[in-house]
Amino acid sequence: MTKDIIVKAVDVTKLYGPFTALDKVSLEIAKGEVCCIIGPSGSGKSTFLRCINQLEKMNSGAIWVNDELVGYRREGNNLHEINDADMARQRRRVGMVFQRFNLFPHMTALENVMEGPVQVLKEPVAEVRKRAEDILARVGLSDKISHYPSQLSGGQQQRVAIARAMCMRPDLILFDEPTSALDPELVSEVLDVMKDLAASGMTMIVVTHELGFARNVANTVAFMEAGKMVEIGPASEVLTSPKSPRTAEFIKAVHS
Ligand SMILES: Nc1ncnc2c1ncn2[C@@H]1O[C@H](COP(=O)(O)OP(=O)(O)OP(=O)(O)O)[C@@H](O)[C@H]1O
Ligand SMILES: [Mg+2]
Repeated sequence: MTKDIIVKAVDVTKLYGPFTALDKVSLEIAKGEVCCIIGPSGSGKSTFLRCINQLEKMNSGAIWVNDELVGYRREGNNLHEINDADMARQRRRVGMVFQRFNLFPHMTALENVMEGPVQVLKEPVAEVRKRAEDILARVGLSDKISHYPSQLSGGQQQRVAIARAMCMRPDLILFDEPTSALDPELVSEVLDVMKDLAASGMTMIVVTHELGFARNVANTVAFMEAGKMVEIGPASEVLTSPKSPRTAEFIKAVHS
């Protein structure tokens, strides 16, 4: 595999009973690339992110993150499931930001951001604190580090959630509709933080309906429908002259 491919998914298939949620989905993401995944509700976008992050187990296909097979190890021609410790190690390399912010309610913003590096990565507290403060400053929350989630707006909470993912220094961050639970006036502050993160070179896969963000920030856009990767290509091409009529219809529907 070429060195700068961070995520490679090949024919990822996921079934829920008789229902095919993902049907041979393939995708490659290069280091530093921002890929926006768009598509109608139920098309499998979240399921795909969850397979990359091992929150779901795929039925067939394979995913590599940073050249490492996700969830399995190969012995000769056989694949064996990796043990829990290896899975945990792999999952630490992938950040995830959800629609709902999922912060620990009993911890301050700073404590939420420090939790993973201190408890999971066992990094020295003083070092992590400095990094967490810097990251919270970067997302515009220097004055809120001692606030609890209940004392923060939705947009601020989501920025803490992004800071928390960043503080783990992951290989990539997955975003699942990070702005869709926010009041409209709070959307742009979160998108601005994500734009800044993209500019810093973070590899990002972003499930979103924010086509303006996709147009301005994404390198590639992928359109999914009914569990299939219908179209993927440079953002400007997919958003302005999509090859598939289904992509065109979807984009038109989101705009209207
Ligand atoms: N745990 C589950 N059990 C059964 N079916 C599921 C499960 N999780 C997801 N599905 C189904 O798989 C399909 C894909 O779901 P998924 O959540 O990935 O869609 P999505 O594209 O993220 O949709 P949305 O835009 O609404 O978030 C849906 O039809 C959903 O009902
Ligand atoms: Mg979803």
